[in-house]
Amino acid sequence: MSLDKQKIVELLTTEEAEALYQQADKVRHDTLGDAVHLRGLIEFSNICRNNCLYCGIRKGNPHVSRYHMSEEELVDTARKAANIGFKTIVMQSGEDMFYTADKMCRIIEQIKKFDVAVTLSIGERTYEEYKAFREAGADRYLMRIETTDKDLYHKLNPNMSWQHRHDCLLMIKELGYELGSGIMVGQPEQTIDSIADDLLYLKEIGVDMAGIGPFIPHPQTPLAKEKGGTLELGLRTMAVMRLLMPDINIPATTAMESLHPQGRIKALQAGANVVMPNVTEGEYRRFYELYPNKICVNDTPLHCKSCIGLKIMSIGRTIGEGYGSHKK
Ligand code: 5AD
Ligand code: FES
Repeated sequence: MSLDKQKIVELLTTEEAEALYQQADKVRHDTLGDAVHLRGLIEFSNICRNNCLYCGIRKGNPHVSRYHMSEEELVDTARKAANIGFKTIVMQSGEDMFYTADKMCRIIEQIKKFDVAVTLSIGERTYEEYKAFREAGADRYLMRIETTDKDLYHKLNPNMSWQHRHDCLLMIKELGYELGSGIMVGQPEQTIDSIADDLLYLKEIGVDMAGIGPFIPHPQTPLAKEKGGTLELGLRTMAVMRLLMPDINIPATTAMESLHPQGRIKALQAGANVVMPNVTEGEYRRFYELYPNKICVNDTPLHCKSCIGLKIMSIGRTIGEGYGSHKK
């Protein structure tokens, strides 16, 4: 659907939020059907060279128990996730240079043998590295632009460059990955106007997947005292994204469920068609704390898969079979 900026702002601020959600739900249903695709998310390292003001695992947070999985541990976690039925494995970490390109490529090659789609979410790398990961078999790449307000971006992401992140997204796309990006809503000083720009940006670069989550202030960060985003703003933004890009993949984000026990279900009924249950094992789950009140920190991969599976079926939806790629 083509919506101009003024119309997007109107929708983001509508008094008829329920009607917006229903409209997005209908577009999702008519375009993609009722399947919800599950992705197994492995949080394999919380070591990060960056210092984003909102993020719990920022380099400057001394209270984090840092870990990174060994190559074997990571491959093993992926194998188990594939064995319990996940058809996509998402590997996410901080920007941890322990994982050299060679190491990452070896890991990808091993995981591809489990007949799964492989998604990387490991931040900014060089063109050569993105190319090598792709050649090793990586199918998709996730990296949120976070905001298109460059001043805000530079305030909250010190020593990072918005332009560079944008360039990385274009390289990823050019290399033939399915491209996932997205934003965090409710960042300090972020306006509705700028969120409308963000949505138009995601459409402009042609994302295959768009993740939209509310900002949740982490007590051990400089933004501890900020208000943060609301589930409602997250849902509205996601719903408008669905209207703008009817056939892309849109996850019901974990941050939404951290703000409300039915957050992901509400999201699935307002335009989302993907859920990314955590398949990280043991105490790593707890240590990978981007924001507080993270859900499922004491659960196991199998438990989460059945839990979310039951919730999905309880609202009359089905679990997607196959890889759940973006069909254009
Ligand atoms: N609240 C919500 N989301 C966060 N992220 C990082 N820190 C927070 C926070 N405090 C999101 C960012 C990042 C993704 C992996 O997690 O958008 O891209
Ligand atoms: Fe983890 Fe429900 S998804 S317990």
